[in-house]
Amino acid sequence: MSEMWGDAVDASTISGGGATPQPRGPQTVVRGPRAERAAVQGEGEPYLNLRDLTVAFPTADGVVKAVQGLTYSLELGKTLAVVGESGSGKSVSSMAIMGLHDPKSTRMTGSIRLGGREIVGLPPEELRHVRGKASAMIFQDPQSSLHPFYKVGDQIVEAYQAHNNVSKRVARKRAADMLGRVGIPNPSRRLDDFPHQFSGGMRQRVMIAMALVNDPKLLIADEPTTALDVTVQAQILDLISDLQQDFGSAVLFITHDLGVVAEIADDVLVMYGGRAVEHGTVKDILGSPLHPYTWGLLESIPAVSGESTRLHPIPGTPPSLLNLPTGCSFHPRCEFRKRVPDDLCTKELPDLVARTDQAGRVSRCHLLHPDLIFADEILPRLP
Ligand SMILES: Nc1ncnc2c1ncn2[C@@H]1O[C@H](COP(=O)(O)OP(=O)(O)OP(=O)(O)O)[C@@H](O)[C@H]1O
Ligand code: SF4
Ligand SMILES: [Mg+2]
Repeated sequence: MSEMWGDAVDASTISGGGATPQPRGPQTVVRGPRAERAAVQGEGEPYLNLRDLTVAFPTADGVVKAVQGLTYSLELGKTLAVVGESGSGKSVSSMAIMGLHDPKSTRMTGSIRLGGREIVGLPPEELRHVRGKASAMIFQDPQSSLHPFYKVGDQIVEAYQAHNNVSKRVARKRAADMLGRVGIPNPSRRLDDFPHQFSGGMRQRVMIAMALVNDPKLLIADEPTTALDVTVQAQILDLISDLQQDFGSAVLFITHDLGVVAEIADDVLVMYGGRAVEHGTVKDILGSPLHPYTWGLLESIPAVSGESTRLHPIPGTPPSLLNLPTGCSFHPRCEFRKRVPDDLCTKELPDLVARTDQAGRVSRCHLLHPDLIFADEILPRLP
């Protein structure tokens, strides 16, 4: 049966290789939802902690550097939105957290700590155990997670029984409860329906029910609403927010849609060409962004005036990950690179550095006063 959970994926797909960090420090098992929420393992450590994560795929054409030096963290109860154009490494980095890359074709280095445990380089069996309970992923297309030939109830029951030693009757009760939780009417009866008997929005709800059946502490949602119409999209976003409140989970939300970001995120990570280029609170990133690429994303939100919709896309195309531009990867598309002396933008990769005194507010750009440029030049032209 095809499933989306870590436990359903062949455990051998976890990648290791490269400089694999060892688990650090003593691990304290804390019991009870409150205690888990507060501490888990590793004192004060955020639930999800990526450090210098690199994911590369050797291919016949060369090495695809899909993710480079990615560092961020996410606490329980918070939502981090990951934004960026197609091919910026959003899904690859998230799949690394789920351990879904094929080790035979993937080079992965750096550290991913989940609930205080290092998962990069973890043996497949251990990874399977950690992942199944700790994290779950929902995808844009429910068809990729729900097997068309099995009743949805049986699929949820199987996902639950994989991690809980309970009878089928108990698991079915749990499955019906979950369907009810995500707003599916007559849940007990609908357990015996097949995926095609649900509408697109309802299938998405079934997938969310299946994702949450094991109370994962981390929910990764990869463009979960893109295929849905606006009304259903809003309902699903509300649902994810409500469930997050109830379960106290951390949510990693991948999207192209900055409108969705404004609605759902606490923090935002902007990725370009496999690297983080800006990170901060949703208020900072949408209200006073510091990176020219983020400015471009904001400017490319469609402005609806009267009958017409104006679009200001970022000129050019995303870079090839086989052969990234020298210096700042964004330089071929950046209208501000001439403001930086000595052609530095084409020569030197800027570090991701703190630009204000706010913790976690970082940006990767050589401009000295991006805040002034944003206020004087970008803000007036935003839609
Ligand atoms: N198994 C693989 N082998 C080779 N290249 C890969 C593999 N998986 C992903 N890539 C490449 O890695 C890059 C990053 O892909 P990723 O799926 O993370 O992009 P994304 O930011 O999620 O984009 P989108 O918004 O289109 O979903 C892409 O260029 C993709 O082609
Ligand atoms: S470093 Fe230079 S090219 Fe890159 S975003 Fe900043 S100004 Fe533009
Ligand atoms: Mg993707």
